[in-house]
Amino acid sequence: MCGIVAYSGSSDEVLPTLISGLKRLEYRGYDSAGVAIQSGKKIEVRKAVGKIVELEQAIATKPIHSSGSVGIAHIRWATHGLATVHNAHPHSSADRRIWLVHNGIIENYQEIRSQLEKQGIKFESETDTEVVAKLIGTLYSGDIRAAVLQAIKQLKGAYALAVVSQDEPGRLIGVKLASPMVVGVGHDEMIIASDVSAIIDRTKKVIYLEDGELIDVRGSDYEIVGFDEQPAEHKVEQIDWDLEAATKQGFDSFLLKEIMEQPRAIEDSIRGRIVLDDAMVKFGGLIDVRDRLKDIDQVVLLGIGTSYYSAKLGELYFNALTDIPTVAVMAPEFRYNKNNIGKNTWLIALSQSGETADTIAAIEEAKRHGVLATGIVNVVGSTIARITDAGVYNHIGPEISVASTKAFTSQSLILLMHAILLGRSDGLDFGQAKSLLQKISQLPGTIAKVLEQCDEIGAIAHKYEKAHNLLYIGRQYNYPVALEGALKIKEISYTHAEGLSAGELKHGFIALVDEHLPTIALATADALSDKMMANIEEVKARKGPVVAVANEKLSIADDTIVVPSIGNDLLQPIVNNIALQIFAYSVARARGLNIDQPRNLAKSVTVE
Ligand code: F6R
Repeated sequence: MCGIVAYSGSSDEVLPTLISGLKRLEYRGYDSAGVAIQSGKKIEVRKAVGKIVELEQAIATKPIHSSGSVGIAHIRWATHGLATVHNAHPHSSADRRIWLVHNGIIENYQEIRSQLEKQGIKFESETDTEVVAKLIGTLYSGDIRAAVLQAIKQLKGAYALAVVSQDEPGRLIGVKLASPMVVGVGHDEMIIASDVSAIIDRTKKVIYLEDGELIDVRGSDYEIVGFDEQPAEHKVEQIDWDLEAATKQGFDSFLLKEIMEQPRAIEDSIRGRIVLDDAMVKFGGLIDVRDRLKDIDQVVLLGIGTSYYSAKLGELYFNALTDIPTVAVMAPEFRYNKNNIGKNTWLIALSQSGETADTIAAIEEAKRHGVLATGIVNVVGSTIARITDAGVYNHIGPEISVASTKAFTSQSLILLMHAILLGRSDGLDFGQAKSLLQKISQLPGTIAKVLEQCDEIGAIAHKYEKAHNLLYIGRQYNYPVALEGALKIKEISYTHAEGLSAGELKHGFIALVDEHLPTIALATADALSDKMMANIEEVKARKGPVVAVANEKLSIADDTIVVPSIGNDLLQPIVNNIALQIFAYSVARARGLNIDQPRNLAKSVTVE
């Protein structure tokens, strides 16, 4: 989704910092890009449709000589209006003296646009953002901060804005409401960006702006105030991962790197959180709310996309290990249903990015009912991490590829650990908890064994590379993994796939089965193995090709992806999912697709 970068520092560094910052935000997904830089007395602007290399080309064709110390840049993921140069950011005031970039959505832009049009102001784009630029222009009388503060009084929606004025060279304003904004505090330079990946190669010192705050930057000096102009206190925080974590490290894609680094990522998710002697789980992030956990009478797990599928798996874990009714709810649906929640409900929001607008809106709605809201979030300092009462970080390092992989593995595991935590105060037996925790400690090693079979899984995937449709079937704990497996292959290889409970097959889906529709069957040994075998027979009886994911070769299947057994029904699906990730990656690679940035997708969906 859209991303912003803004820089204040040395004039030689403005353009390279903006471009490299944009490149590090590329993973968010975008379809046009642009920069605005102070040059002499003017602000020079270049924009291009397509990738950042097109923008670099536009700059090479018509160079910008940066003589000032500030610049702003943007990648746009089209929402209001097509991906065109006119719609690309930065956008300007009517006199082209003020320029800004925006991430978010202005809900009342039509209304403001009509008012401005009545004043004779002409618009060049169809975007909501241009309205903000034009509005600031009408309010400007020499102090950009004052004009921005006045303009935002009229805005409804979500925005992270970076604004510059040619009349105030060297000054940069950032404002934030319900869209992410982080400020890097470097050596004699400041960088404002949508996330830390755009900043990390320059500094690890950051400030996370809160909603309703403005930063006024002049050189390397800055002041942060609330929208009421009262000074806001902020500590400078240290980012705990480095640039290496944000590079491909020799892999052909971030996706493959993120799949392959899961043993270490999962070690990091578990580290220090298991107390085996007490058969207990310890989450430092939940200590402040432990008294409230004693009164919980209902659990709601919230997420969307991959984070919803891990929530579905978590629902099964909580219902298996506790007596507290638990339900997974898809975040965009939450606000529009009566969820029967109250002050004894524990809402656990799952989000890799911590910025998903649907999930944020659902948390806010739930909080109005007095629930205890906690998060399972990967991005430190993100909105969901801040608006929840408490929470647990995944600690898996940045997930850069648009399609989520290691986040699912970590989220599922952390949910299992939450269920053990709650279960232990609600009748879960010491021995059962201890044995589960021992199995959890084995998970990184078992995942590593699946990864060793990358080539074998790839060879099977190549046989099915040309399939137009696929069915993924699983039962019980493997059902959410069937859903996630189908989502993964849809996203990165554009193969239509359906995930379903194997028990659903004969209630409709079997009508589709013939020799052209391969079925991926999650058939590792578990309590429902016999039933799964019967389902595979049903597919074979209709000549459907079957790829089984099993602990040993299945003669009934056309192909078997053999995965190691972890010896536990709750954990095995997490292992199986790693094989499905490699399968999806292998199909996408064989098709020569852009694995890290699939068409039409954005990493962090910051609009509802
Ligand atoms: C799937 C995927 C998306 C995200 C969804 C939620 O591979 O990337 O479905 O899972 O947009 O994102 P987060 O977890 O950041 O809230």
